[in-house]
Amino acid sequence: MTELTAEDRRWLDAAVRYASPFVGTTADEPAVAALLVDPRSQTLVSRAVTAKGGRPHAESQAIAVAGFEAAGCTLYLTLEPCHHWGRTPPCVDAIIRAGIMRVVIGAANLDPQAAGSIGHLESAGVETVLANHAPSLALHAGHTLRHTTARPFVTAVLVASADGMLGRSGAGRAPIAGQPSSNWIDLQRTRADAILVGAATARSDDPALTVALPGLALRTPLRVVLAGAGGIDRKVNLVGRFSGYRTAVIAETGVAVDAPVSVETIRVAGSQGRPDLEAALTALGRKGIQNLLVEPGQRLVAGLLEADLVDRFALILSPLSVGEGGVPASPDGPIADLLGAAGLAETGRQRLGDDTLVLYERPSRPN
Ligand SMILES: NC(=O)c1ccc[n+]([C@@H]2O[C@H](COP(=O)([O-])OP(=O)(O)OC[C@H]3O[C@@H](n4cnc5c(N)ncnc54)[C@H](OP(=O)(O)O)[C@@H]3O)[C@@H](O)[C@H]2O)c1
Repeated sequence: MTELTAEDRRWLDAAVRYASPFVGTTADEPAVAALLVDPRSQTLVSRAVTAKGGRPHAESQAIAVAGFEAAGCTLYLTLEPCHHWGRTPPCVDAIIRAGIMRVVIGAANLDPQAAGSIGHLESAGVETVLANHAPSLALHAGHTLRHTTARPFVTAVLVASADGMLGRSGAGRAPIAGQPSSNWIDLQRTRADAILVGAATARSDDPALTVALPGLALRTPLRVVLAGAGGIDRKVNLVGRFSGYRTAVIAETGVAVDAPVSVETIRVAGSQGRPDLEAALTALGRKGIQNLLVEPGQRLVAGLLEADLVDRFALILSPLSVGEGGVPASPDGPIADLLGAAGLAETGRQRLGDDTLVLYERPSRPN
């Protein structure tokens, strides 16, 4: 393996920027970008990203577009290429056949079926660099977690009022988020493979969990309700109302679920009628969910943080107050303290209209 150059780093940065809008469109496959570059002129010959639904892979598309011009090129990949016959032929073979001279890889692919790709390329005389490039590692964190811990990458988003509340008891969703915040949450929904809410929120707010941004309704991912001891039934819109979007319910083995056949019921182990949270997330990982967005109420936030199952937390602070009858975001003091105790550190903040978005992440994300 050779060293990474400044040009290599710039092309990998460009590859991540190119792939990023496609996160959430590639089903159970990672959204990989492939850039074929002429190393003498440092010009782009072709580029591709994993196609909608996960196939064809980025590498084979970029090579097909480049044709004979691929020979002698450097291939920049955000993720190590596949090495096995799955639903597509091995990309490693296509790279070797195309006469590509050098491959620069942003992140190692921890899917056991990709193991050995780098050795295979090198034994065929293709110079290969594994960059451990931070933006590539972040881009593929969901894919990596699914193959290391069996669960998806979990982002939780919560809107808190100026008086520290997340809603008002028995009054449905409190209108504390401004429109720019709602748009931002919708954008996160488009990037997720599934959205999870607790049954209490499904009942009290009766949310549709769709994407309201113009032109992006079809980017609504799988909507998942986590049932508790009281089970769930079709009176809840998410479960009973036909919307054209996929819905699943996760419930403990013995709990009553009354849902139409179009709603998938996933049974997992738990206690006292509540699914074990890790088992619930593992069940989603098994379904190919790489990135999960959780929109939790007070109890689900506490449960996920206590079980150490949140990788990224988006706290949206509203200047509005809920006042009397408010449900605190955390009954144990300020929510920021709860996040700190769970090992999440602030990594950035930005304005969303009159609201402020504060992002918290794990200091050392798995790679
Ligand atoms: N501001 C925001 O961003 C935001 C977002 C979502 C919701 N909310 C508000 O939050 C309030 C609801 O909060 P909540 O605390 O009652 O409910 P919640 O946090 O939405 O979820 C708890 C629900 O999940 C079920 N559950 C199943 N397994 C669980 C487990 N292992 N750990 C934790 N919960 C499990 C619970 O079952 P059991 O019934 O058996 O306990 C309960 O029905 C509503 O007022 C809603 O408007 C606000």
